[in-house]
Amino acid sequence: MAPRKILLDCDPGLDDALALLLAHGDAGIDLIAVTTVGGNVGLAGTTRNALALREYLGFEAVPVAAGAADPLERAAENAAHVHGEAGLGDVHLPVAVLPTSAVHAVDLIIETLRNAPGEIHLVATGPLTNIALALRKEPRLATWAASFTIMGGSFTRGNATPAAEFNIYADPEAAAIVFAAGWEVVMIGLDLTLQAIATPAIIERMRGLGALGEELVIPLATFWTNPHDDDWQGQAVHDVCAVAYVTRPDLFTSRPARVEVETRGQFTSGATVVDFSSTAPNAVVPVALDVDGFWDHVYAAWEVVALQRALRTGDRG
Ligand code: BDR
Ligand code: CA
Repeated sequence: MAPRKILLDCDPGLDDALALLLAHGDAGIDLIAVTTVGGNVGLAGTTRNALALREYLGFEAVPVAAGAADPLERAAENAAHVHGEAGLGDVHLPVAVLPTSAVHAVDLIIETLRNAPGEIHLVATGPLTNIALALRKEPRLATWAASFTIMGGSFTRGNATPAAEFNIYADPEAAAIVFAAGWEVVMIGLDLTLQAIATPAIIERMRGLGALGEELVIPLATFWTNPHDDDWQGQAVHDVCAVAYVTRPDLFTSRPARVEVETRGQFTSGATVVDFSSTAPNAVVPVALDVDGFWDHVYAAWEVVALQRALRTGDRG
């Protein structure tokens, strides 16, 4: 099967960086463009990180375009307390040499899908501002995407607040536009991603990646610990799940659902209200993950990048 073409809209971000690593390493994926949005840190930071990762990982031919700095109607939130002030925890990559594309992310998204209708799998792992702006400007985008997968939302709990997951909480108005666009949204929410934990055993396995593991993967996957969780096992690699879904939906047990976004709740703003018994579903919601299969898949793809990098740099790890 030909590799699936992915455009990844992201806000790197610890787990966004790991998602980029999967998108680059998975032979089943042809990463054709990366767009950035303000989220975990401000747009300047997420864009700087995407550019630096492109050169560190070696996908220089892939365009990186900067998008929206602020949510549609609200002041920007960030998650620097989780991802560090610069967004990649303690990882400080060399500043990139190559610039962003001259085009705005919203236009890159529209043009890329317009030029290949039915071919591009759109994946969003940050707040949905760019995607909503693209849909507002060109509603046919929803018919051009081969699929649309997000990391965001949940059906039981939040992380930014008790009710809301960060990506939806940061721009609920954008999320509401995206869920109402007439396409099928694959909503990889917290209930799913909290099954993808980088446990100490997984981290030990990542030592097999040599320099890539020591310099990038392990620091990214261990930077944050939750002081409020007595049962802490490790960080969830949320965004990696969204990229994995595109080529390996078989690793997920999924259910159709109707998802609405709460934009006005006093305590529930940004919550996703998920109705699994709706007769008018607008989403597919993965609920269970084949955890061992997931990590085997991810490790194999990351190992490809580790080997490529070792060849390029002469570092055998
Ligand atoms: C999501 O929020 C961000 O902090 C992470 O990068 C991920 O996309 C998890 O709630
Ligand atoms: Ca993210």
